[in-house]
Amino acid sequence: MIETQKILKGFTIAEARWARFGPYYAMFPLEFAFDVVEKFSKEGDYILDPFAGRCSSIFAGGVLGRNSLGIEINPVGWLYGSVKLEPADKEEVTDRLLEIYGKRNYYSRAVERMPEFFRICYCDEVLKFLLAARTHLDWKKNNVDATLISIILIYLHAKLGEGLSNQMRMTKSMGMNYSVKWWKKNKMKTPPEINPCDFILKKIDWRYEKGKPTITESAVVFGDSANELKTISERAIKNDIKFSLLFTSPPYCSITDYHADQWLRLWLLGGEANGNSLKEKYKGRFINKQEYHDLLDNVFGLCSKVMKRKSTVYVRTDKREFTFNTTLDILKKYFPKHNVQVIDKPLKKDTKTQTKLYGDKSMKPGEVDIILTRE
Ligand SMILES: C[S@@+](CC[C@H](N)C(=O)[O-])C[C@H]1O[C@@H](n2cnc3c(N)ncnc32)[C@H](O)[C@@H]1O
Repeated sequence: MIETQKILKGFTIAEARWARFGPYYAMFPLEFAFDVVEKFSKEGDYILDPFAGRCSSIFAGGVLGRNSLGIEINPVGWLYGSVKLEPADKEEVTDRLLEIYGKRNYYSRAVERMPEFFRICYCDEVLKFLLAARTHLDWKKNNVDATLISIILIYLHAKLGEGLSNQMRMTKSMGMNYSVKWWKKNKMKTPPEINPCDFILKKIDWRYEKGKPTITESAVVFGDSANELKTISERAIKNDIKFSLLFTSPPYCSITDYHADQWLRLWLLGGEANGNSLKEKYKGRFINKQEYHDLLDNVFGLCSKVMKRKSTVYVRTDKREFTFNTTLDILKKYFPKHNVQVIDKPLKKDTKTQTKLYGDKSMKPGEVDIILTRE
């Protein structure tokens, strides 16, 4: 069995390199994910995360010998999760990169028609390559393509010199107009000249340097938990499988818009070139309180059907009143015989939250862990 410390400290083994795969807004700290899995489950147990994000919970479970199953509606989180659980072979990913790079010159004219944002964000060579990748990589169906596009996604925007873009935040895509104004004001109107093929080749080399992670059979489903859990629960019942640990963090009511905040990565995956909130269900900011309640009620209700009698439910959520009370009431409703423990996770004064790092200095109310156990 792998020593957790080797994963949490440094990059000396494959599991450590892949554990951090994919910057994602509101991701679990790695140490927390491993800690909860170790404390509340044992080898061979089944773990479920219906709001999996970049799959830290599922990956920790898989590395520690648990069978883990996640569900994620955002393609960016799903790709990071599914690829870190099962990356394609390095040689195939490298060959595919060279193939895509070879197609870039078909996009020379298309680059000229791209909005100003893209022309300042990326040099022509990068933009041609991104357009070729966007057109040809079949990331939903093909694991080699999924692995390659996930690696490109990671470096799509970052601090100057660390990614393919002009100066940008890494976890969150900024708006088009905001970025253009910001670059102009800060005299950064010229994108960095980068050879995208050499750049991504180096990143592939580093990621695979220690090999691929060893994971106990685990997976992440791409879709809406409110739908997917119905099929999952039918299959679980048919195969006599019950989950021991429900370990998740749902979206927080009205706080984050996982789709708008990832608009540039979603553009690479074929989406619109704008940062607008999506109108589809569960792809916006979760502003409607009734809809938010119904989503949690539906999902936790369906989860409760596949959990063992003596299961543990571990939910990290927002401390703000509505999200916290809604979550707590729903969990108590579906796990009425469990003992409930609530642990406050106040932010330390000097905690660098992602929003704080980007200039938001207001104190956040922090998070809370709701833990339900049954003797
Ligand atoms: C707080 S984040 C989870 C972060 C995760 N713990 C991690 O470490 O990356 C909540 C996630 O729930 C996802 N989500 C929201 N509604 C969903 C739904 N109906 N079905 C599946 N996933 C959903 C969001 O896209 C977001 O990635």
